Amino acid sequence: MKKFFAILFLFTFLSSTGFAGEKDMKENNLKWWQCKPVYQVYPKSFFDTDGTGSGDINGITSKLDYLKSLDVGAIWITPVYPSPMVDNGYDIADYTGINESFGSMDDFDKLLAEAKKRDIKIVMDLVFNHTSDKHEWFLESKKNTKNPKADWYIWRDAKDGKEPTNWRAIFGGSAWTWCEERKQYYLHTFAKEQPDLNWNNPDVRRALYDAANFWLSKGVGGFRIDAITYIKKPRTFTDGKPDGKDGTVNIHTMTANQPGILDFLREFKHRVFDGKDIFTVGEANGVSARELPEWVGKDGVFDMLFEFSHVDLPFDAAEIWCYPKEWKLTDLKRALSNSQKATRDNGWYPIFFENHDQPRSVNHFFPEGADPKKAAKALATVLMTMRGTPFIYQGQELGMTNVSWNDIEKYNDISSHGQYEFAIKEGFSPDDAMKFVRYFSRDNARTPMQWNDEANAGFSPEGVKTWLPVNENYKTINAEAEEKDSDSVLAFYRKLGALRRAHETLIAGDYKEIFSDSEEIFAFERSFNGETLTTLVNFSLKPVKVPAEIVNKNLVLSSEKVFDDSELQPLEARIYKIK
Ligand code: NOJ
Repeated sequence: MKKFFAILFLFTFLSSTGFAGEKDMKENNLKWWQCKPVYQVYPKSFFDTDGTGSGDINGITSKLDYLKSLDVGAIWITPVYPSPMVDNGYDIADYTGINESFGSMDDFDKLLAEAKKRDIKIVMDLVFNHTSDKHEWFLESKKNTKNPKADWYIWRDAKDGKEPTNWRAIFGGSAWTWCEERKQYYLHTFAKEQPDLNWNNPDVRRALYDAANFWLSKGVGGFRIDAITYIKKPRTFTDGKPDGKDGTVNIHTMTANQPGILDFLREFKHRVFDGKDIFTVGEANGVSARELPEWVGKDGVFDMLFEFSHVDLPFDAAEIWCYPKEWKLTDLKRALSNSQKATRDNGWYPIFFENHDQPRSVNHFFPEGADPKKAAKALATVLMTMRGTPFIYQGQELGMTNVSWNDIEKYNDISSHGQYEFAIKEGFSPDDAMKFVRYFSRDNARTPMQWNDEANAGFSPEGVKTWLPVNENYKTINAEAEEKDSDSVLAFYRKLGALRRAHETLIAGDYKEIFSDSEEIFAFERSFNGETLTTLVNFSLKPVKVPAEIVNKNLVLSSEKVFDDSELQPLEARIYKIK
């Protein structure tokens, strides 16, 4: 016990002195983006400086010191380009502009410059599988079959007077929409307002590379690349085995990760990323952990890949919300450890539990009834001590939680509406359909950032109607309150950040899962240059014995006050060290 307090004291002292033990991370040949967490901002919900009820670029700039205090190396901002906002910016109408609702190009340049002063890079979101149906390329393409851009999208004749295949779009409904002007159907993996580009056309690829290079010439630090596994379509389009009562099949199972996709991506890399001091992270739904080395290894196409096996545990490949599956802690651990193993010798992993498409992690990875504050700290410990670059999603560092709205009309998220309608068509009652929406809706992660306990949680000025309602718990879960509380989730994130800086092992060390059969404890070791740090997290709501081989090691950090060395309290996380 005494030992624990001595270590805790030393730790606090080191944090306050800026870490005497901090090393130059370059010693281990890692790149800048491997050494620090990345913070994801969903600009519409981050901070509203102009009182529109919707966040803006100046809002990000004004919070840079806050982000610096989390020691992030980069900020990934989801799309801020001109867009009709059918999918909140993932429907892009101009790849090289800024949406007026977010500000101007001058605002963006200011953000870049201010971030640079703080040694933070800005990472853009490239949405290259599709554009908006208001993009001038599509407006031209849809006119007829002869125009110069006629072949820039995926057009097909009707089959027997109907859609060419039975594919269902990810947001629901057919993946084909009829265009009266051109008398043909066009394909859209997502909403009908998001037509898929034809990557087989070299002119399309060239135009996309030019857009990416435009942002590189401005000095951005890298790219998150959206929905990239869908860019290559199958050679022939055929019906799939229906997974819905309406005879449709999720397009994902028919088109994701097609053979030959890496040829496109090698060209993309060569024409845009090669030789630049940036990082790339692909969103790769449909790529398995086994395939990671091909995608992110030495000869891979990206630096990192978001694969979804751990966040998708409640679903099969079709991600249908109304048919969730049971899963166990060992499933979660296996999914994460598989990705760790696959990238151990060749590649790097982006560790994430939240983003703008996922429920809040405290409501996703823990048993019902889990205390959200404890759960947030428990997961933060895994996030910040696993091997790879931690991605922190806005509000995760505060322990923000899901919302619970009763009416589908309150939800903005296009996919919540699609999933709701699908559930009703499958025969579920409106009440049941709402249960699925409440649990999985992407709006859970998109409610305004909770800055303080004032009106609108300090996100928008008082009296303004925010674009999504603020989560009711903002009075207690908010950045200002957590700044003042040394036991807050925010304070714990900072401690974990400081620990990463003090122990190169947490950055460069190997990863080995231990006690892998346990359904209560998630545990692993990180080892580097003779030092081993062990992470031990109790994911259950029961106290659990600390395994005998660990109990005598030096405790470096714990998420809860330790009353008993030999027992982990429910949801407690600890980090131990052996020299
Ligand atoms: C993945 C993005 O993360 C999501 O928000 C978006 O709706 C789809 N891709 C379509 O671009």
